[in-house]
Amino acid sequence: ENRKLKTENLILRIQFSLIVYIKITMSDKLYIFDTTLRDGEQVPGCQLNTIEKIEVAKALEVLGVDVIEAGFPVSSPGDFEAVQEICKTVSDTTVCGLTRAVAKDIEVAADALKFARNARIHTGIGTSPYHIKLKLNSNEDEIIERAVKAVKLARNLVPEVEFYAEDAGRSDNEYLAKVVEAVIAAGATIINIPDTTGYCLPDEYGAKIRFLMENVRGIDRAILSTHCHNDLGMATANSLAGIVNGARQVEVTINGLGERAGNTSLEEVVMAIHTRKDLPFDTGIQTQKIMETSRLVSSLMNMPVQANKAIVGRNAFAHSSGIHQDGVLKNRENYEIIEPAMVGVDESALVLTARSGRAALKHHLNRLGHDPNGDELVKIYDRFLILADKKKQLSDEELLMLIGNGATADQSVKLKLLQVVAGKSTIPMATVHLDVMGAARMATAEGNGPIDACMNAVKKIITSDFVLDEFLIQAITRGSDDVGKVHVKIFAENRPLYGFGADVDIITASVKAVVDAVSKMSIK
Ligand code: KIV
Ligand code: ZN
Repeated sequence: ENRKLKTENLILRIQFSLIVYIKITMSDKLYIFDTTLRDGEQVPGCQLNTIEKIEVAKALEVLGVDVIEAGFPVSSPGDFEAVQEICKTVSDTTVCGLTRAVAKDIEVAADALKFARNARIHTGIGTSPYHIKLKLNSNEDEIIERAVKAVKLARNLVPEVEFYAEDAGRSDNEYLAKVVEAVIAAGATIINIPDTTGYCLPDEYGAKIRFLMENVRGIDRAILSTHCHNDLGMATANSLAGIVNGARQVEVTINGLGERAGNTSLEEVVMAIHTRKDLPFDTGIQTQKIMETSRLVSSLMNMPVQANKAIVGRNAFAHSSGIHQDGVLKNRENYEIIEPAMVGVDESALVLTARSGRAALKHHLNRLGHDPNGDELVKIYDRFLILADKKKQLSDEELLMLIGNGATADQSVKLKLLQVVAGKSTIPMATVHLDVMGAARMATAEGNGPIDACMNAVKKIITSDFVLDEFLIQAITRGSDDVGKVHVKIFAENRPLYGFGADVDIITASVKAVVDAVSKMSIK
């Protein structure tokens, strides 16, 4: 009997430990509700047509969001059509339509959602003193009545109803709890607590969610959802505070698009959860698709992503200072908390600017198949700094040009200084200073254009005659600050001689090319 009791006791203890272990190690499911096509699309100038909305919806489904808020069907025939078409397009992802707590809105939304495999109506009403009195000219009891009526009607038309308490961020918590309790009893299974005006601070918003979790009867039959706006730059922080305190759905948009300063951005919340192991939630998002989706939304909505935007900005994985570049080359984790590939970015970029160090320059030259060391690297680096001071950023072609330009060090004739006067109603004139086998020489000449004036000045210095036979100018990349390449062929001493020059100033590049060719003559 005693042994039997002991065994039962042991089994109970093992079962208990197992439950505790599973609770600690298992990540809670966090539902991702994307409202790019509804709240995001409310941004002036970002409106999409139905075909574009379908394209975004498909991308969101591939990304792995749980719910797509496809629009506000009663607001326009275009929105109605888009919601309907998205329902026909997506498969398992829930499609949601927004409504006010108004019968007509709810009936129209249900109609728009009729082809959805999983349909949800998102209905709600303002619960803050501002909304109750100043917007709706109503009172607290009447608001609860209207909310309950709307939820019941929606629940009769679609299988899933989400309720939003608009301006919950500025609503009294006790009253909010009463509203939430009433709508859960009426059949809402997801309760959205929007910080509509972006007013809350993280502790305050987190405490609001905790208060509802602890004080609403029936809260175990519903999921609380965060919906934060970014007016004070707190949207992501507030959403995370809500999640930590019990919310299990987060409402987000791609690139943080949305009214005014925008909504919580999907990529920030998802990557915070993926990066921080102390946030044990499972979002189900295919993170490698994040960048692709961000670019799609940005281009379809004509909304450029700011360069320093977290996760998806052009500079999110770009290192430009010498110290950081050196650190990243030693070990990426010195300066990066997210592996770029995790969000679909090929690799971190070591941008070559005037602040880059030799380590980064060498890294790029190695990548391009060159391995300069010692003195050679120092010389290339010196030339690099001169060019980098004139340009914001250097391209691969320009780096290769830097290596090629190294040849000038061995030229018997070198360009030292060039001054050109040119323009409309001026006589083009050039002053050229050359180093001819160690001797400083200079000349000034006119011409029928700035390059012709330069050639004439060079000819005055180099007394031996030459003829410019071919002249080819090319821009290396794009933009007005590009480096220009010039190839020339001169005819001198009864033979063709070739020269090359490159510079951000195309006239300087031309003179460098001629000087390069001239230095191949047998000058005395
Ligand atoms: O910010 C907000 O309150 C909203 C609701 C309509 C959900 O977007
Ligand atoms: Zn909103």
